[in-house]
Amino acid sequence: MEIKKSELKVLFTEEQIQTRIAELADELNDLYGNDEVIAICVLKGAVMFAVDLVKNLKMPLKMEFIRLSSYGTGTVSTGKVHAVDISLPDLNDKNVLIIEDIIDTGHTAKFLLDFINNNFKTKSTKFCSLLDKKISRVSDIEPDYYGFDIDDKFVVGYGLDYEGYYRNLRYIGYKPNV
Ligand code: IMP
Ligand code: MG
Repeated sequence: MEIKKSELKVLFTEEQIQTRIAELADELNDLYGNDEVIAICVLKGAVMFAVDLVKNLKMPLKMEFIRLSSYGTGTVSTGKVHAVDISLPDLNDKNVLIIEDIIDTGHTAKFLLDFINNNFKTKSTKFCSLLDKKISRVSDIEPDYYGFDIDDKFVVGYGLDYEGYYRNLRYIGYKPNV
């Protein structure tokens, strides 16, 4: 499959995304109160979401960035996860908030949660994904918080890419009828 920008249909507008992020932030502000949070942005896809989400969070917060990539060509996830850079500070006794763009098969989420559980005893670990593509799930993983449910569309924009492109779109789009 090839995706051209002219073929893209809007799935979520910039306004819908920002409204939903503000709602998620309200829930997280309620959850943590004034407790410190270590927010982990999973690059590259979660970059836009993480930046906009943390701007709405009010507790003392530190940001960490890790880079994972799931091997795959085009629009198909292979289920193999590659840790390009998973250097993290000491997360023992910390409130850890993982910020992802999408949970698809769930392999990436499982890989990261296993890594954190195997290396640290956190105070809490929560997983917040902008999108949840439940229909593709292979791993037994559910996000604690998510922005939108989507069906089996391949989506791009707002951090999500097709062959590296379209991350810079302000909206989330998809190519119809594929
Ligand atoms: P997983 O299958 O849950 O491990 O998801 C792996 C990664 O595939 C996600 O973090 C995204 O980077 C990417 N991905 C999954 N579905 C889509 C999509 O619809 N558009 C763009 N990237 C996707
Ligand atoms: Mg990703």
